[in-house]
Amino acid sequence: MEKKKVIIVGAGARGVVYAKCLNEHAEQIEIVGVAEPRPIWRERMAEEYNIPGKNVFEDWAEPLKRGRFADAVVLATPDNLHTEPAIAYANQGYHILLEKPMAPTAEECHRIAKAINENGVLFAVCHVLRYAPYTQKLKELLASGCIGKPVSMQHLEPVGYWHQAHSFVRGNWRNEGESSFMLLAKSCHDLDWISYVMGALPERVSSFGSLTHFRPENAPEEAADRCPECAVESTCPYSAKKIYLGLYAEGCREWPLDVITHDICEEGINTALRKGPYGRCVFKCDNDVVDHQVVNIEFGTGQTCAFTMTAFTKPAQHRKTTIFGTEGEIYCDCNNIHVYDFLTDKTKSYDIRAEEEIVGHAGGDQAMVDAFVQALVNNDPSHLKSGADETLATHLSVFAAEKARQEGCVVEVKTV
Ligand SMILES: NC(=O)c1ccc[n+]([C@@H]2O[C@H](COP(=O)([O-])OP(=O)(O)OC[C@H]3O[C@@H](n4cnc5c(N)ncnc54)[C@H](O)[C@@H]3O)[C@@H](O)[C@H]2O)c1
Repeated sequence: MEKKKVIIVGAGARGVVYAKCLNEHAEQIEIVGVAEPRPIWRERMAEEYNIPGKNVFEDWAEPLKRGRFADAVVLATPDNLHTEPAIAYANQGYHILLEKPMAPTAEECHRIAKAINENGVLFAVCHVLRYAPYTQKLKELLASGCIGKPVSMQHLEPVGYWHQAHSFVRGNWRNEGESSFMLLAKSCHDLDWISYVMGALPERVSSFGSLTHFRPENAPEEAADRCPECAVESTCPYSAKKIYLGLYAEGCREWPLDVITHDICEEGINTALRKGPYGRCVFKCDNDVVDHQVVNIEFGTGQTCAFTMTAFTKPAQHRKTTIFGTEGEIYCDCNNIHVYDFLTDKTKSYDIRAEEEIVGHAGGDQAMVDAFVQALVNNDPSHLKSGADETLATHLSVFAAEKARQEGCVVEVKTV
């Protein structure tokens, strides 16, 4: 069978991950094009996958001028560059793997869903957690009725203190005007996942949260604008020197170091901290997104969920969820699932790590790409765990929750 051809648009951190995952299917998939404005990232991708020069572009719009020369496109561009590319590629008949969030506004999400439906192309937003092995095990357990009817859920997204500082204070998602609000940027995954696991869509939401810590008034008096020049840097947990040089010393050579510099060595990191955005004091950045937020959800079924996103946690932790059912309780954290049965008062535990290779969003990155490849090769959307309409619906609950936070009210979620 002829290989399916894929173009990577936006060959940054996520584009590279998806190219690697696609390449696991090299017998069925060929990466034939790349569009990326940053020369080093563009050339690296072209070289890695032997992409011919005529298919190497600087901007997402350029491949479209050539007419359709591939089957699918991975859109891994920044948040504010999802809508127009998604619509334009759908209009040319490309199947699409689009990074989350679908788009920064509800209106744009509607426009994308419309273009997808009108063109009848395969479409998945990268809600990788749906595909993670622990989620699939959880769905299987819930469907077996092992906790009776799930009534309520507590779900925690522990962002981690330095991940918050890296991405949402110093980095690309720090400022709503330049990317998206925090709930959309980080937790559209969670609200999508919560709906998927509960098997229902939110009907009403309330929310509270704010930017409480990473503000100029919280800077110590002696704090400099940049960590390398700061007299009190060694007393600050968010010190860029502590975070990045510490990760380097521990052996890290990829994310997040590859975001701050191409020159991953002590000297390269120190130069990036002296000159680039990632060396800035966390109290003196142009950040405005919240560092903690809660969302309360009532589903049409009467079930409820309390969700918390917070910066202030240990790093590199998995999301933690408890589901309370009429006949038992489930606790899970990506690695383990524990099911407590009210009838027997016994707990049964499942170690997901023992069964699957857990890398990249608890194994979700590869599993989602595997599903997309199957959908593409078989021209069968049933391999995808959500399409345009369901993704639109869960995104609408995110916009509703943010409205609830901003206006201090309970918001009815529109599902269409
Ligand atoms: N699914 C997930 O869990 C997950 C995780 C992290 C990020 N994301 C999302 O993935 C997307 C990309 O994030 P990232 O971390 O890879 O960021 P990134 O900045 O590393 O990558 C984005 C790339 O798009 C490129 N780009 C900018 N303008 C372009 C244009 N006109 N044409 C083509 N390419 C262009 C940039 O140069 C950059 O290389 C974002 O929407 C982000 O929110 C998703």
